[in-house]
Formats: sequence, structure tokens, C-alpha cells
Amino acid sequence: MTPPPSALARVLVVHGPNLNLLGTREPHIYGTATLAEVDADLRAAAARAGAQVECFQSNSEGDIVTRIQEARGRFDAIVINAAAYSHTSLAIRDAITAVALPCYEVHISNTQAREEWRRPSLLGAVCVARLEGFGTRGYRMALEATIDAVRERRG
Ligand code: DQA
Repeated sequence: MTPPPSALARVLVVHGPNLNLLGTREPHIYGTATLAEVDADLRAAAARAGAQVECFQSNSEGDIVTRIQEARGRFDAIVINAAAYSHTSLAIRDAITAVALPCYEVHISNTQAREEWRRPSLLGAVCVARLEGFGTRGYRMALEATIDAVRERRG
């Protein structure tokens, strides 16, 4: 169902495994903001931009796949940090392709400057763009750019 052009942009933000531990998990890499603070910042940014955002975190690959499937018709775009599943999950990749929603990949750290095995992302080829290395503020940057892109697409 295509929303009318005047409708608010609706963006689903998906956080993958271990991101519920933000704030205490390797703070020298992932910073000190908690996931609740990140999500509050995203809700504030969406409100400022006159858009809607829903944030979802799961440690389970299947739950992430289900949530992406359910996004069809309910959201205009997805911002996803699939965390370690970015490097392994064909199921999440297929879910993104299946729903055919524009998807934007985020990583808090610069995965290209870390261990070799973090460099490939199975999601990169099915996402519109990737933003990484800006810390948790990268989520807000990606959300704002995604909202702009949704509006631009609607014309
Ligand atoms: C991460 C990078 C991944 O390699 C890692 O497994 C994560 C977080 C990031 O945001 O920098 O859990 O996606």
C-alpha cells in the first residue's frame, strides 16, 4: 500500500545481537550511550523531522527476519545494524530483498579498520548505503538521511 505524499515518513530501526548491551559493551569501541539513549535520540530526531520511527532490538536472527517481513506496508524504509549477523546472515539478507524496502546499513564502529572477518557484509549488496565509524551518532545521521530519501522518492 503506497502512502499519500503528505503522510509521515515511517522508518523501522533494527538493532541486532549484543546491541542491548550498549553503554557497557566494549565502551572504547561502541561508546557509553545506552541503547535506550540511542533510541530516545532517534525518536527526538524523527519528531524534529516530522517523521515516525520504531526501534527494535533482538539477539535472535529469526526474530529480526520476522520483524523485517512485517515491515512491508507498515514502513517506508529500514535502518539496520545487524551487528554480527551482518557478516553471516543470508536469512536477513533474503528478508531485506523479499520485502523490497530501501534498507540502510549502519555500524557504530569502522568495520573496515577492525578484524579481517568483520570486513565483508552480506547485507551491503542489498542495502542502498552504509554508514559506519561515526559511533552511535551514526544512527541519527542515517535516520535523517533516510527520511530525506523517503521524501525525495515520494516527490
Ligand atoms: C557492529 C560491528 C560488528 O562487527 C559487531 O559484530 C557488532 C557491532 C557495529 O555496530 O560496529 O556487534 O555492527
